[in-house]
Amino acid sequence: MIGQNDNINLEVKDKKKVILGFYGLFYVVIILIIVVVGYSYLGKLEAFSRGDLIPTVISADTTAKTNTDLPIVKGTTTAPVDLVKEVVSTPDKVSKGKTLFEANCVGCHGTEGKGDGVAGKTLNPPPRNFTALTGWTNGPAFSSMYKTLQEGITARGMASYNNLLPEERINLILYIRSLVPGYPAIDQKEISAVDAAYSLSKGFKLPNQIPVKMAEEKILEETKIMYSKIENVSDIIINEKNDKGAIIFKKLSFDVKRSVTALSFYAWNENEAAFVKFVSVNPVSKGFNASLGGITQEEWSIVYKYTVNLKNMFIK
Ligand code: HEC
Repeated sequence: MIGQNDNINLEVKDKKKVILGFYGLFYVVIILIIVVVGYSYLGKLEAFSRGDLIPTVISADTTAKTNTDLPIVKGTTTAPVDLVKEVVSTPDKVSKGKTLFEANCVGCHGTEGKGDGVAGKTLNPPPRNFTALTGWTNGPAFSSMYKTLQEGITARGMASYNNLLPEERINLILYIRSLVPGYPAIDQKEISAVDAAYSLSKGFKLPNQIPVKMAEEKILEETKIMYSKIENVSDIIINEKNDKGAIIFKKLSFDVKRSVTALSFYAWNENEAAFVKFVSVNPVSKGFNASLGGITQEEWSIVYKYTVNLKNMFIK
């Protein structure tokens, strides 16, 4: 007999079924969603890693510029600088300073000197904002700025501009000082401080400077010349049939070119003992036979004289 209680029980059971069924479906749906989302995500992963992560802002390719190398500067002793005159600001000096600033500084310090140049974005500490006069490392006084430009604050990312002339550094400072009012006055004490530190009134020596590219070419050129000399000298030794020195050299060396290379790059020509020592220490690495087969004292003398002679003639 089915009573009311049973009915209620049945209803509860049905509800449980419905609820369980609902939850069952719910899990299935959740799992389906995970699978679908996961699948489409996996599909996109490759494109994602390849394309989407490349930032849209691409910084300028500075390597493409051809005119950014150092200029040739002939080493000179510069004329004495009359600081008292140089530090007086004129529109001409400020404009020269601005040109220098645009050529050398805007990358980090920004076109308006606010420390927001593209190249400076990654620097910590950031480049100095010249429109704010607090929190400087060396300071905004003339003597401090001169020191910064002369010596740099290299540990903090500010390079030295000691390749510029003193007048150019001063023009840069005059330009920066023109950006906002409030820079400390350039008084006699400031001028004396700079002169005492760098003796500008006496003139000073500016070292030679050549473009890096030219230095590279020079080194390559010199290396080429060196190697052609080594080839020549080796050929002379190899082709010499009569000279006793050459014959002994070939008895000593299993690889004449290597031996000549070693002899070209190291010092051994001070005297015969130095030569014998040079050949006998690690001989194989220098192209000489490990045994140095039975060379007599007299033969050492002959081969030494022969080799020194070659070195003096061809390899300086
Ligand atoms: C490679 C980036 C870079 C370039 C280029 C650069 N600077 Fe700086 N400069 C810095 C950084 C970074 C600082 C901050 C250093 C610090 O806070 O100590 C700085 C600081 C300075 C300061 C303030 C120093 C102080 O006392 O706090 C002066 C002045 C200065 N730079 C002048 C120049 C001038 C003039 C040029 C161009 C001739 C120039 N800088 C080019 C990165 C640069």
